[in-house]
Parts: sequence; C-alpha cells; structure tokens
Amino acid sequence: MGELKAAVVASLAIASVAQADAVHARASKTQPNWFQTSPDNYAGTIETGAAPFLAQTNPAPFGQATYVPNAPLETSEPIQGANGRNIFHLMGDQSPYFSPQEGFGVDEYPLPKGVNITHMHMLQRHGSRYPSSSEGLSSWGAGIASAIKNGTVFKGGLDFLNDWTYNLGEEILVPIGRQELFDSGILNYYNYGHLYDNSSKIVVRTTLQSRMLESCENFLAGFFGLNWRDHANILATVDSAVTGDYACTKELESLESIETPVGTWIETYLKNRTAHLRTLTGSYDWTFTDTYHAQSLCPYETISVGYSPFCELFSYEDWEGYEYLMDIEFAAMSGFLSATGRAQGKYWVEEFLARVEGHFVTAPANQTGCNMTLDTNPVTFPLNQSLYLEFTHDANIVSVLTAFGLTQFSDYLPLTGPPKNQQFSASKLVPFAGRLNIEIIKAPHKVTTKRSKKTKTADYVSGSGETYYVHFIQNQRTIPLHASFEACEYRDDGWCELSTFLEVQKKTLVEAEYSYACFGNWTAKNYGAVRNGVPV
Ligand SMILES: *[C@@H]1O[C@H](CO)[C@@H](O)[C@H](O)[C@H]1NC(C)=O
Ligand SMILES: *[C@@H]1O[C@H](CO)[C@@H](O)[C@H](O)[C@H]1NC(C)=O
Ligand SMILES: *[C@@H]1O[C@H](CO)[C@@H](O)[C@H](O)[C@H]1NC(C)=O
Ligand SMILES: *[C@@H]1O[C@H](CO)[C@@H](O)[C@H](O)[C@H]1NC(C)=O
Ligand SMILES: *[C@@H]1O[C@H](CO)[C@@H](O)[C@H](O)[C@H]1NC(C)=O
Ligand SMILES: *[C@@H]1O[C@H](CO)[C@@H](O)[C@H](O)[C@H]1NC(C)=O
Ligand SMILES: *[C@@H]1O[C@H](CO)[C@@H](O)[C@H](O)[C@H]1NC(C)=O
Ligand SMILES: *[C@@H]1O[C@H](CO)[C@@H](O)[C@H](O)[C@H]1NC(C)=O
Repeated sequence: MGELKAAVVASLAIASVAQADAVHARASKTQPNWFQTSPDNYAGTIETGAAPFLAQTNPAPFGQATYVPNAPLETSEPIQGANGRNIFHLMGDQSPYFSPQEGFGVDEYPLPKGVNITHMHMLQRHGSRYPSSSEGLSSWGAGIASAIKNGTVFKGGLDFLNDWTYNLGEEILVPIGRQELFDSGILNYYNYGHLYDNSSKIVVRTTLQSRMLESCENFLAGFFGLNWRDHANILATVDSAVTGDYACTKELESLESIETPVGTWIETYLKNRTAHLRTLTGSYDWTFTDTYHAQSLCPYETISVGYSPFCELFSYEDWEGYEYLMDIEFAAMSGFLSATGRAQGKYWVEEFLARVEGHFVTAPANQTGCNMTLDTNPVTFPLNQSLYLEFTHDANIVSVLTAFGLTQFSDYLPLTGPPKNQQFSASKLVPFAGRLNIEIIKAPHKVTTKRSKKTKTADYVSGSGETYYVHFIQNQRTIPLHASFEACEYRDDGWCELSTFLEVQKKTLVEAEYSYACFGNWTAKNYGAVRNGVPV
C-alpha cells in the first residue's frame, strides 16, 4: 500500500513537471506565465484525513425514509425539538450547500419573450473542507484522548467518546466539497452555458490555496467536462489566507475584534448544554470551549466521514444558537458590523463595475484592494467575456455584499439573542459552495414592475425603449435590490435598472472609506458600535 502510494505520488510529480514545462514553453516573451498553476508553492496547509467507511459506521436507519440518490451525508439523525427541520441549515459557513427555501424577500419569474441575459458574473465559495488549522479541533481531540488515557470515563450521551478518535484532515476539500463544486459547474452550465463562446478560452480566477484551486477545477469539470482546459485558463493568485498578508492592513484588527462578542454568545446559548454535559465527564473539567468544539465536530465529521455522533448531543435550539454564533462572527468580521466590512469587499465591486462598463479598473493607489498589475492588463483582466467566474472564501463574499451596500443584510445582532426578522444569515449567504450570480439582462422595453408567473404575458411598459437590468442571485434565490437601494424602484422580481444601479454604486464605493478604514488611525470600538461597515 505504502509503495503504491509512493509510486502514484512520483508519477503525479512527473506529470506535473511535464505540464509545467509545456506551460512554460507556451508563455510568451513579453507576458509572464500568468496561467501556470503547478508546481504550486502556495497551496497552504495540506493534510488529508481518514478514509470514510459510512456503510459501516452509519447507525441509520432512524425510522424516516431518507434515501436520496447521490446524497452521501447522513443528516437524518433524530434531533431533540427539530420536528422535521434540518439542523444542517443552521451551521453558518459550515452548512453543506443548500438553497434557502424561504428566499430573501421576492420570488423568481420567467424572462419575458425577447428579453436576454447578456452577461453573468459569478463569485463562488470553495466547497466543504476539513477544519482549518486555527479552529483547534485536532488539539481538542488530542486532549480528549489524553484524558481517557488518564482514566476519564465519559458517561450517558458522551459515552461514545470513550472509543472515539479524532481523525480529520486540515483545510483541503472533503469529497462532498468536490461534488458541490462539480454540481455547481453543472448547474451553472445549464443556466448559462449559452453565454460561453466556444471560439475562445475564458479567464477564470481563483487562488493557489489547495481548496481554492481544486474548487475551481471541479467547477470547470462540471461546467465544461474533463476537457475544460480547452475552454478556460485559470488565473490563480497567492491567497492572503495562506500568507496572512492582507491588502487592507486593518482587516486583521477587525478579524480579532470578533473574539469578545463570539465568546459572550457562546457562554449564553451553551449555558444549559454545558451544565448538562459537565455531569457526564467524570474527572475531566468540561468547559464552554469543550461544548463548542463538540458542536463543531457535528458539521465537520459529517462532511468528512459521512456521519457524526456529536450532532445528537445538541437540541434544535442549540443549533439555532450555533447559527446565530456564525451570524455574529461573519457580520462582525466582514459584514456591516465590521469597521473594514465595506473596504474588504470593495475590490470586487470595482472589478464588477469595470467589466460592466468595459474598462480597466481605475483607482488611485491606496484607494482600492484591487491588484492594479493584474487589473490593467487585458490578458489577466479581459473585458470581452460574457461569463466571469471567480472563486473565493466565505468572508470575501460577505464583504462583497457589504461593499455593494446591500443594507438588507445590515441588521444589528444583539448578544442577547436573534432580532425579529433577521435578514443576515451566514448559512443562507455563505454555506460551503455558496455563490453569488449577477445577471445583466437586456430587454427591448422596460419590463413592468408587477410581474406575472406566466411566460406568455408580454410584461412590457408600452412606449418604453431598450432597457438593461441587473439581477442578484445568492444561492439560487433573488436578492431584491429595492430592499437596499431607494433608487431602485420596487419590483416583484427584485431587479434594478442597470443605469440606476451603476449610479448608486459610484456613491457606494466612496462610502467604503477605503483608505481610512484600511490604513487610518482608528481604534476598534466595542461590538455593536459599527453598524455600516466603516469605522466610527
Ligand atoms: C490526570 O489526572 C490527574 C489526577 O486527576 C490530574 O492531576 C492530571 O492533571 C490529569 N492529566 C491530564 C493530562 O488530564
Ligand atoms: C462551437 O459551437 C458551435 C455552434 O454551437 C458548434 O458547431 C461547434 O462544434 C463548437 N465547437 C467546439 C470546439 O466545441
Ligand atoms: C499582484 O499580482 C501579481 C501576480 O499574481 C503579484 O506578483 C503581485 O505581488 C500582486 N501585487 C500585489 C500588490 O499584491
Ligand atoms: C436553562 O436552564 C434554566 C434553569 O433550569 C431554565 O430556566 C432555562 O429556561 C434554560 N434555558 C434554555 C435555553 O433551555
Ligand atoms: C500607500 O501604500 C503604500 C504601500 O502600498 C504605503 O507604503 C503608503 O504608506 C500608503 N500611503 C497611504 C497614504 O496610506
Ligand atoms: C478577447 O479578446 C482577446 C484579445 O483579442 C482574445 O484573445 C480572446 O479570445 C477574446 N475572448 C473572447 C471571450 O472573445
Ligand atoms: C435577444 O436575442 C434574440 C436572439 O438572438 C434577438 O432576436 C433579440 O433581438 C434579443 N433581444 C434584445 C433585447 O436584444
Ligand atoms: C493615533 O491616535 C491616537 C489616539 O487618538 C493618538 O494618540 C496617536 O498619536 C495617533 N497616532 C498616529 C500615528 O497618528
């Protein structure tokens, strides 16, 4: 087995060297070799975990009919208080991909005859992954093991811990993560395949971090098939998640500022659960942190090995608390409750606007997070594509929605518990493989604001001329632009006229206060002081 592995690794190494040579040979004398992705010195942490054996480890059936073809994860375990509701939609950014059934306020409508989608801009999160190095789960696992060695005997609901071992990898995609991206590629091909002009290759963007590059490749395999290299060049840049080097230097400060609110909410929502679990741990001094790690292991073990006994330790209410924890974390890290929320995402809004308007990014130094070397070169920043595909991280998507000024998602999240009609939800916005699709729509006339579900209806405003619209879709559900922008009139379909939207965005970019937010001499205030994604 070991030898076989070594042989496979050696042959892969040879193949990748050959591939790299071929790419080198093609690189022109005047352009660097932009689309080279191997060898990859910036893959970041790469650690694989135990091979799953779900057929053997799954304690199902649990009594419900659950068979779904090709949906390998065991998510039907009985959860106290769930009454048929799905806790896997309450795991924030650790939720496996799902499309939120309740949407974001409006429904989708068929396009009236004669109306065409002309462009689609996509920002796609990587798929399900092992825990990241910073989450502390592997050392928690080691702590449990040494406690057991030391004589601790866990009781009751925790007795499975007595013969449990932590066996997850780190950072890289788990199998369902590959599937999520492959499926997204297929879904996007069905939706937008027509927009690909097969006479030329498109440039797609990702980073060199292992899960990012593989997410991109799996998506492309789904979208184009295994010959995707004939259709796309991957521009993969060094990932700040690997180097810790952020263009916006104060971003790190806003990341650190979430510790207090997150700690406060953990000690609120996990109070009773922790008190209960403490009665089952013998000599082991079980704390809030233990309860929280045990809860995180439910999503991580499920996506990694297919089933986790940790899920059933928690009630549906505990999972609502977990989701709210992730909501607080993302709002405060990259959303409207973060002093750099707008600044972090400004780069992509600028790139989007530049592509829509057909010019390179123009921004004074220190006023943008864009890489101006890449964004002023037609090879790396093409303007003639109908499809723009980019792969990124959860926090980036949240910050881009913030930089667009989608104040629908700016609700304040009190540390005493969720507000009524909460709109900002990490799981609905950035589950694993979450994605924003922005459509540019060209209509021969204005489309009426009151829409009909019947395709045959003309739906046009008589006497009006050709009109372009923009349509935001997050995880297959429309984000209604009128909910955030007064200038966008109320529409059943949530679209906004493109010219109006572009006007709005010019002001929005200024609102990010990029230079002050990123390099200014401000000090982080307590949680809740920032409500608009800029320093106060
Ligand atoms: C092992 O148990 C002893 C006695 O309860 C305790 O003093 C010690 O800290 C424990 N060590 C570990 C690693 O848990
Ligand atoms: C490109 O599309 C055209 C029209 O659909 C088709 O005839 C042609 O075979 C395609 N070429 C490739 C290389 O896929
Ligand atoms: C811009 O991107 C290029 C190519 O990836 C890289 O070499 C350069 O360091 C980047 N510049 C900045 C300021 O990040
Ligand atoms: C926690 O326990 C206390 C005391 O038993 C009880 O009053 C309270 O309702 C419980 N809270 C939750 C969220 O279950
Ligand atoms: C602009 O950025 C450069 C490096 O990117 C930095 O050295 C300089 O201090 C910045 N200037 C301002 C005014 O922030
Ligand atoms: C865009 O223009 C470049 C340079 O002319 C060309 O190489 C490329 O094929 C074009 N791409 C598309 C999608 O038309
Ligand atoms: C939409 O596309 C069809 C088919 O190419 C074309 O006939 C029609 O004029 C287009 N509509 C607009 C508004 O450009
Ligand atoms: C930053 O602000 C603090 C408090 O207002 C002040 O004491 C300090 O001198 C300032 N630092 C710089 C470099 O301006």
